Amino acid sequence: MRVLITGGAGFIGSNLALTLQEMFPDAKIYVLDNFSSGHFKNLTGFRGEVITGDIRDRDLWEYVRRHFTFDVIFHKAAITDTTVQDQRLMMETNADSFRFILDLAVEWGAKVIYASSAGVYGKTPPPMREEEGLQPENIYGFSKLMMDRIAQSYMERYPDIRIVGLRYFNVYGPREQFKGKSASMIYQLTLKMIHGQKPRLFKWGEQRRDFVYIKDAVKANILALERDVSGIFNVGTGEARSFNEIVDILNRELGTSYEVEYFDCPYDFYQEFTQADLTKAKDVLGYEPEYSLEEGVREYLDYIRSVQV
Ligand SMILES: NC(=O)c1ccc[n+]([C@@H]2O[C@H](COP(=O)([O-])OP(=O)(O)OC[C@H]3O[C@@H](n4cnc5c(N)ncnc54)[C@H](O)[C@@H]3O)[C@@H](O)[C@H]2O)c1
Repeated sequence: MRVLITGGAGFIGSNLALTLQEMFPDAKIYVLDNFSSGHFKNLTGFRGEVITGDIRDRDLWEYVRRHFTFDVIFHKAAITDTTVQDQRLMMETNADSFRFILDLAVEWGAKVIYASSAGVYGKTPPPMREEEGLQPENIYGFSKLMMDRIAQSYMERYPDIRIVGLRYFNVYGPREQFKGKSASMIYQLTLKMIHGQKPRLFKWGEQRRDFVYIKDAVKANILALERDVSGIFNVGTGEARSFNEIVDILNRELGTSYEVEYFDCPYDFYQEFTQADLTKAKDVLGYEPEYSLEEGVREYLDYIRSVQV
């Protein structure tokens, strides 16, 4: 199996690369990344090769076309900072370059598993279902919705190609630290609290999110690889938990009793409440999340302590 992982130096892509090489030791795995939000340290222990380049660059894809063929492409590369406002840059990077990848997949007969996002739902009332309420509130969510539309067009035009979109909710876990301010709320709060600082939240900490542990997100990718299906699926836990609850869990796990300092939210497009409806993901992919928030945070804390971030 020849595997290409775009965005493989990033959080989800690197965890996927490291899992795939253990599960499929004979697979030839390539990471393609421009290292804008990814980091080479995420690939410590990776035994494959890296192609350095920008997914917007047609010449890069022409080079890849001439020198490689892949059986499966995991497409994770994207601008992942949801506060970026440059609409053209966001669209060219996240949406338009996806067409280059799909065209190559058609040529190779490769399977494509790509990263969509719960950002496509915007402020739609939860639980979010794949076919409903697609009203993104920012250009990031819009670019991901356009990826889904592009994917659906290719699914219709090329029914023999398998294309799977995974709409991640809030993924957290090891190797997200290089995302900086775009890393999960769980990471940000943990960092503050283990360094003896008060947790800070937007007023009044009751925003609820579907937080999904990285191992469950990787599992969804493996299922998408193994199943002979096309489609777009939510990847979450099906549960919405508040930011205040994260602080409670962390206080319990760390043996601390920090009180939260609340401040005004500066964004007008901030998602207040996300929760995945997992019916379709369960029925078609066989996806069942294994980690509760408590279990995920506990395992993640061991990692954070071990790398001393
Ligand atoms: N982490 C989450 O909670 C979450 C939620 C919803 C969707 N997603 C999606 O999952 C995917 C992976 O996200 P992540 O959390 O691992 O973020 P990340 O920022 O760690 O990974 C993105 C990777 O893409 C690379 N990249 C960015 N622009 C590129 C370009 N023009 N050319 C080549 N490489 C480029 C970055 O260097 C980075 O390694 C993204 O598509 C993201 O939109 C993530």
